[in-house]
Amino acid sequence: MRTQVGIIGAGPAGLLLSHLLHLRGIDSVVLELRGREQIESTIRAGVLEQGTMDALAEAGVGDRMKTEGALHHGFELAFEGKRRRIDLTGLTGKSITVYAQHEVLKDLVAARVAADGKIFFNVSNTSIHGIESDTPSIRFTHEDEEHELYCDYVIGCDGSQGVSRASIPAALRRDYERVFPFGWFGILVEAPPTSDELIYARHDRGFALVSTRSQTVQRMYFQCDPKDRVENWTDDRIWAELHARVDSLEGHEVVEGRIFQKNIVGMRSFVSTTMQHGRLFLAGDAAHIVPPTGAKGLNLAVWDVRVLTAALVAFYEESRTDLLDAYSETALRRIWRAGQFSYWMTRMMHRLDDASPFEQRLQIAELEHVTTSRAAATAMAENYVGAVAV
Ligand code: FAD
Ligand code: DHB
Repeated sequence: MRTQVGIIGAGPAGLLLSHLLHLRGIDSVVLELRGREQIESTIRAGVLEQGTMDALAEAGVGDRMKTEGALHHGFELAFEGKRRRIDLTGLTGKSITVYAQHEVLKDLVAARVAADGKIFFNVSNTSIHGIESDTPSIRFTHEDEEHELYCDYVIGCDGSQGVSRASIPAALRRDYERVFPFGWFGILVEAPPTSDELIYARHDRGFALVSTRSQTVQRMYFQCDPKDRVENWTDDRIWAELHARVDSLEGHEVVEGRIFQKNIVGMRSFVSTTMQHGRLFLAGDAAHIVPPTGAKGLNLAVWDVRVLTAALVAFYEESRTDLLDAYSETALRRIWRAGQFSYWMTRMMHRLDDASPFEQRLQIAELEHVTTSRAAATAMAENYVGAVAV
């Protein structure tokens, strides 16, 4: 089997890359570990930056996002019983859309299928070969048969648990990591929205986030022990915790409903450099992870893919390799910007058990600053909507 670009992983990075390449007449094959139903139902991100919205619309997969997603022009920071608004559009001229990642995936898979795009679901034993040669390949098993996909380039879009990153020789790689001693407990609940905009709340009991999915389904998160288990949290206990953390705010009250999804995610900041070696390139979570506080993970994956698409188009249309050569360096500038923002916001919003009372007061001082200084609020808003110069 042969294609121009072999892509490992059908997450947002792999599927969008495959579709953008197709629109430029470049052939690709996507190999995915899981089934279509599984990737289309895994609950993850919800916030799309303006640049992500634009990229999806340009790729012709933005229609449902526009009609079913909710355009938000600001969000709120809550602390010490106060609610303060960050006016994203007023400060930056840009906005965000709240639209679930698995809905983006449904739109991308549908577009690939409609274009006769080749996606192998439920593959196993994926391995990468010959990346230092001009004829790299990917071996995999599909429906009990072993295959070898020959291609010009291999793109590792296989997320944080994939096989691609390890194919870059350890001697050439440098990993940077910070693991946080807390995680997020996430729920989906059948209830009406309680706020027009997202609320990021700092509370002495821990962080909480009020997000949304639709007029009838809400998404909420609260800081928890990453080693805790979902089974330890009855619905009553979850509601008690959410009421305690977000009800005290001026005029906001959590509305209870049927909880139909619960999950716990650990939190870390991670960047792996270099993101390329020979004919192998990494994109998205395969190369970097941010804590979810800044809502950057999916958006960074889309950014990598846009950089990579431009580089591959320059190669196929003009036989230029300069953009491919510069890929890792170009992508990493934005990754570090988003990594710093996500880390900063995480440290400001969470209960830090390792922090002294003095440092905890500094969190409040910082929140006061970003919600009262136009300059500080603008910097935060630019980072949140992704309008940063890198
Ligand atoms: P993934 O989505 O991880 O896709 C990788 C794919 O590769 C998977 O489908 C996997 O099955 C497949 N795969 C793995 N190994 C192999 C293999 N060996 N062979 C073949 N296929 C393989 N980001 C935001 O921007 N905004 C948010 O609001 C936000 N909130 C989040 C909330 C939570 C609770 C979580 C967990 C994440 C959140 N993120 C958010 C992060 C975001 O979900 C990820 O950054 C995003 O999914 C990265 O996309 P990706 O395509 O790089 O990787
Ligand atoms: C959501 C997730 C985030 O990580 C975030 O910062 C905001 C919203 C969400 O899933 O809705």
